[in-house]
Amino acid sequence: MKNKLEQLKDEILKRLNEIKDSSALRDLEVKYLGRKGELTNILRSLADLSIEEKKVVGRISNEIKQELMLRFNEVKAIIEGKESDKGFIDVTLPATKIKNGHLNPITLLQNELEDLFTSMGFMILDGPELESDFYCFEALNIPKTHPARDMQDTFYIDKRNKNGELDMVMRTHTSPVQVRAMQKYGAPFRGIVPGRAFRCEATDAVHEHTFVQMEGLMVGENISITNLIAVMKELLNGVFGKEMEVRVRPGYFPFVEPGFELDIRCTICGGPGCPSCKHSGWLEILPAGMVHPKVLEYGGIDSKKYTGFAFGLGLTRLAMMKYGIGDIRNFNGGDLRFLEQF
Ligand code: DAH
Repeated sequence: MKNKLEQLKDEILKRLNEIKDSSALRDLEVKYLGRKGELTNILRSLADLSIEEKKVVGRISNEIKQELMLRFNEVKAIIEGKESDKGFIDVTLPATKIKNGHLNPITLLQNELEDLFTSMGFMILDGPELESDFYCFEALNIPKTHPARDMQDTFYIDKRNKNGELDMVMRTHTSPVQVRAMQKYGAPFRGIVPGRAFRCEATDAVHEHTFVQMEGLMVGENISITNLIAVMKELLNGVFGKEMEVRVRPGYFPFVEPGFELDIRCTICGGPGCPSCKHSGWLEILPAGMVHPKVLEYGGIDSKKYTGFAFGLGLTRLAMMKYGIGDIRNFNGGDLRFLEQF
């Protein structure tokens, strides 16, 4: 019994030395000295001993209890001292700086472009990222069997309609919102649609399965290619903060006729040619075109009366050019060393 008590004492003292805060101390006190504590239990069991033994063991256990209580109080005083030190506020010390978050460079660019376009009377629209086959392809003049479907590697959602067809996709571009917008607002109309698009791409420095685009659409009477080029120039001058030289080439997209690729003078070499522009002196930056009459009709707009232009800006790509970002994976990589530069 005596040994057991000594052992318990050593154990408690050892634990006391390791205590760091008052709640751990309280727990320890309850565990050993509380009403149902281990030491209390031993003291209670003295009742079963002979009178002689009771005398000896009783004395020792009281001594041990006294000693432990003393030590508990000492530790308590030390800890409370420390804890109140922590609570002390020296108002004369310089404040710790609050860490500010950073906007993603794509968001920065998007905000800039939203300002620019709203100043030209465009509205800003959203659309669903999980889109129907109809809006993503069909209504954009890309029928089911058309080879143009192969231009975009699509994530189809594993859910079939009544006819057993897969008819929901992660939108491969922001263009579906063109038809949604025309159906909702009619003509005349001006709007942009910044948002994410998804393609089944193998990831490398310039390809990602998720990227950001900004669709633009303007529909009205007598809208022509001249309007398209004027607005595109306004957009590019705004992004790069200087007058940009552009050229227009034919490009095929089923939802526009005619379709274009709008290029800018290479921002790296300025014209003579370099690896970034594949030695052509031009950077392909903006696919665009005059809205196909069929697409206008899908949007519920009279294609005899109205015309329109559309463009599909790759915001992710543009942000890479504007800020000189070499690897697309940085945008969603979550590395603060990257984000803190903006
Ligand atoms: N949606 C096309 C793509 O992601 C880009 C595009 C091309 C959009 C021409 C347009 C356009 O509005 O007129 O590949």
